[in-house]
Amino acid sequence: METAKTTVGVIGAGAMGSGIAQLAAQAGHPVVLVDQSADALDRSAAQLAKVADRLIEKGKWTPEFSQSVQERIHRTTELTALESCDWIVEAIVEKLEVKQSLFQSLEAIVDPQTVLASNTSSLSLTAIAGGLKHPERFIGLHFFNPAPLMALVEIIPALQTDKRWVEAARTMMVDWGKSPVVAKDTPGFIVNRVARPFYGEALRMVEEGIADAPTIDAAMRNAGFRMGPFELMDLIGNDVNYAVSCSVFSSFYNDPRYRPSLIQKQHVDAGWYGRKSGRGYYDYNEGAGKVEVKEEALAPNTFERIQERIVAMLINEASDAAYLHIASPQDLEVAMTKGVNYPKGLLQWCNEWGVTKALAILEGLHNRYGDDRYRPSPILRDMAASNSRFEV
Ligand code: NAI
Repeated sequence: METAKTTVGVIGAGAMGSGIAQLAAQAGHPVVLVDQSADALDRSAAQLAKVADRLIEKGKWTPEFSQSVQERIHRTTELTALESCDWIVEAIVEKLEVKQSLFQSLEAIVDPQTVLASNTSSLSLTAIAGGLKHPERFIGLHFFNPAPLMALVEIIPALQTDKRWVEAARTMMVDWGKSPVVAKDTPGFIVNRVARPFYGEALRMVEEGIADAPTIDAAMRNAGFRMGPFELMDLIGNDVNYAVSCSVFSSFYNDPRYRPSLIQKQHVDAGWYGRKSGRGYYDYNEGAGKVEVKEEALAPNTFERIQERIVAMLINEASDAAYLHIASPQDLEVAMTKGVNYPKGLLQWCNEWGVTKALAILEGLHNRYGDDRYRPSPILRDMAASNSRFEV
């Protein structure tokens, strides 16, 4: 007989909380899903029923499994219902004071051994934990949207976290069918930090008139990315992407490597958020034509120049994250391939290019612009000097 699974609490029944509750229920945990809004709970239940029906139609779930998953989730507006949970994952609004105040209320309800986790994508876990009586049981569990489909979960211990919860979280995430990685509590964790140049460098090139958005998108698709930076920003929402850029930039005390782009700000100011507003870098209104880019019609090596500049900057960011021990080289590769579907890990890309090629491109940019944004990570210089490769 299967051993009884621990009870998982989830707070916030929006897009993320609903997905996390579904995952826990699929893995066999009894789940208590709390939201301050009864409507949000109803919407969450209806959405899960819809998803379950689709999965049954596709033959992925049996009707019995669907019923058991749905029955395992108990929905309530009462925080006190979380009293008997062993793990609680919070997915409410992204505001430090609101999260801190929620966790303080929770501490009055649950046992000091209950693990409290936050799905925050941009706040410091250490800062949230700073408001707790028992911060050693607090940890970050960063899922990606949509949580049931995206394999990556970033596990982020706060400075105060007892390390045994890192291992426990890893075991539980593997049990849920996820690919967990462990990241240091630093701005953007892994994915939202390492991916910044994918957008930032593309925007710089448009700003300088080196290429337009459709050409850059075509070049990056040609390099193996599923979507180019501009179509991806339009999908994510330029408002959301700009907010992440600004938050990472200010959290790094205005390091020029993360400097946001005026073009992006203007798109936000104009309300050109992307797909959701009908217009972003592209026009999504009915009748708007699709922009086709023909490589043959461009100046020789246009695609290659675009690809080299963006990929070199991505490699630099991933290398620096390895240098600063933000995550292990292996976890950095898992994060970028599973969290944002990059065609391969950036450290492997560096190995394939050879570190001297990556370094030469970065030094060329650094010399030309005289901007610290392009400073190569010391690890690339060390590796070039010792003729070594990343162990991935
Ligand atoms: P959402 O706005 O869809 O849902 C938030 C839910 O929390 C709402 O149903 C709201 O009624 C409820 N809520 C707010 N304050 C509450 C409180 N004090 N007590 C109980 N319920 C409360 O938000 P979403 O997109 O699901 O995001 C939730 C969290 O997950 C945020 O911290 C966000 O940064 C993080 N996140 C979001 C991702 C995304 O792509 N949407 C990806 C990864 C993390």
